[in-house]
Amino acid sequence: MKNFSSKNIDSYFFSKLKSYGFRGLIWTEVESYIVWPFRTIPGMLGCLLRYLLYKVMFKKLDSFCVIQPNVFFVNCIRIKCGRNFVVNSNTYINAVGGVEIGDNVLLGPNVVISSGEHQYIEGRLAVTLQSIVKKKIVIRNGCWIGANAVIMAGVELAEGTIVGAGAVVTKSTDAFSVVAGVPAKKIKDRL
Ligand SMILES: CC(C)(COP(=O)(O)OP(=O)(O)OC[C@H]1O[C@@H](n2cnc3c(N)ncnc32)[C@H](O)[C@@H]1OP(=O)(O)O)[C@@H](O)C(=O)NCCC(=O)NCCS
Repeated sequence: MKNFSSKNIDSYFFSKLKSYGFRGLIWTEVESYIVWPFRTIPGMLGCLLRYLLYKVMFKKLDSFCVIQPNVFFVNCIRIKCGRNFVVNSNTYINAVGGVEIGDNVLLGPNVVISSGEHQYIEGRLAVTLQSIVKKKIVIRNGCWIGANAVIMAGVELAEGTIVGAGAVVTKSTDAFSVVAGVPAKKIKDRL
């Protein structure tokens, strides 16, 4: 029960406040309510409405995109996205550290892209009570990320990278490479 005391919950709130800043925290709260009614609308109408919504919410969105139901974006204001972006259901993108997506990028279902990483430097202190390190993620033109893959903070996927289903990408990739596994390693070149 010790971990659920109100003191710890306050500390969690303040550690989040420290990482996101006051305006950042308020903005993520507001953003979550704005996008919530649009998130599960099915079919092409849902995709059209989400496109119009994220055209306003993202820092940059260059053309029509297909965002399937139940995709979560956090810190939309830090997402820059190119043309013809397609993302499948249940993908989670946290742009606290910035996320840049090039043209013609395809994300499978259940992909996790998180540009913030929890600190654990203070050995005895719970991770929830420590700060977050922000590291930008860049996904260059023509990348395809398979289902259930995880892209870690600070990674850059070079142009044309294919990430296999279930991969955990911890390091930046070579252009036109195919990476797979945990941690992800190059399994072939496309050229
Ligand atoms: C990565 C991928 C594109 C590679 O396809 P491919 O070029 O046909 O590769 P191969 O089947 O020839 O596999 C080459 C090797 O990599 C391994 N491999 C392939 N995909 C892998 C994966 N996702 N994780 C781990 N290993 C993988 C294979 O087992 C094989 O190993 P081996 O040489 O020891 O037998 C494909 O396997 C994949 O994961 N596609 C994603 C599918 C998806 O998520 N679709 C969602 C819709 S968007």
